Amino acid sequence: MNNINIAETNQNSKKSRITKAANYDSVIKTKQLTKKYGDQRVVNSVNLHVKKGRIYGLLGRNGAGKTTIMKMILGLTPITSGQVDVFGQNIKGHEKSIYPHIGAIIETPGFYPNLTGTENLEIFAKLRELNSPNAVKNALEVVGLPYKDKKLFSKYSLGMKQRLGIANAILHNPELLILDEPTNGLDPIGIAEMRDFIKNLSVLHEKTILISSHILSEISLLADDIGILHRGVLLEESSMSELERKNSKYILMQVSDVQKAALILAKQFNIKNYALKDNHTLHIYDTALDVGEINKALVTQNITVFSSGLCEDTLEDYFKKITGGKGIA
Ligand SMILES: Nc1ncnc2c1ncn2[C@@H]1O[C@H](COP(=O)(O)OP(=O)(O)OP(=O)(O)O)[C@@H](O)[C@H]1O
Ligand SMILES: [Mg+2]
Repeated sequence: MNNINIAETNQNSKKSRITKAANYDSVIKTKQLTKKYGDQRVVNSVNLHVKKGRIYGLLGRNGAGKTTIMKMILGLTPITSGQVDVFGQNIKGHEKSIYPHIGAIIETPGFYPNLTGTENLEIFAKLRELNSPNAVKNALEVVGLPYKDKKLFSKYSLGMKQRLGIANAILHNPELLILDEPTNGLDPIGIAEMRDFIKNLSVLHEKTILISSHILSEISLLADDIGILHRGVLLEESSMSELERKNSKYILMQVSDVQKAALILAKQFNIKNYALKDNHTLHIYDTALDVGEINKALVTQNITVFSSGLCEDTLEDYFKKITGGKGIA
């Protein structure tokens, strides 16, 4: 008996359970996770932490390594080195007890084009030996697709196909969902709808969700936590609220002599929270100050003020900075 002892999921109850014996702070935790293809290290010592009940957005450009990380978590490609813990346990050797509690979409799921959505899901339900009569109906309801509809999969729009993919991933009511770019190819309204029901899965159905994307604006609207992956390296991992705080407002001043200006700020205005950006630029992070008063003080002490004003870095600026100027999307 393994020590996480995950309780059997019950399709009729919205909540699946993990026994109290399970003691972990992250539903997914990777330790120095590494993948090499030949000499290329496409995932490099990644320590990822996906917390229970939260939506974790893995953000990275094309080729950053997002799908490879997800595949390693799901055992779809071998791990070169490092470890993946799911529900507090190393997946190695415990695949059989862990994987039934994960739902995933990695690349396009293989549905039969000449069958309806309901028929397709019924096949998957049989394959997974689900004995709940309502599993298919419930899953379709969650993603907003009709049950027993006559439309064949081949006639589905891309958005409907994506929804059916998610319905398939939640068929067995798993605690954890791993969704690789589920909004790929959708139009803006489709993206917004997908975002809403992924949020619902988290809030109403208490799923823990790992989702990948290369679109910053999309992830920032959806995720509670974010990991920024760049060329296989996890550059940053933090909560969205923390990231937003980091990108707080500041007063930007361009002056003839920053050193002298800084002295005046410190002495006359008791300002300590500032940064000298270059010979002429400084950022003051105390935005409640009277910029007019500061300008006046500097000018009267023979410092030329080229410009001054309130600024706000966007998340985009921030990502550009930490990914070495390239940005994410
Ligand atoms: N089977 C493979 N053999 C060799 N290299 C591979 C293989 N699969 C992926 N790679 C390489 O690993 C790197 C990461 O690929 P991966 O698919 O994980 O990126 P991604 O972040 O998911 O990109 P995208 O946004 O395009 O989906 C890429 O350089 C890719 O070419
Ligand atoms: Mg990918």
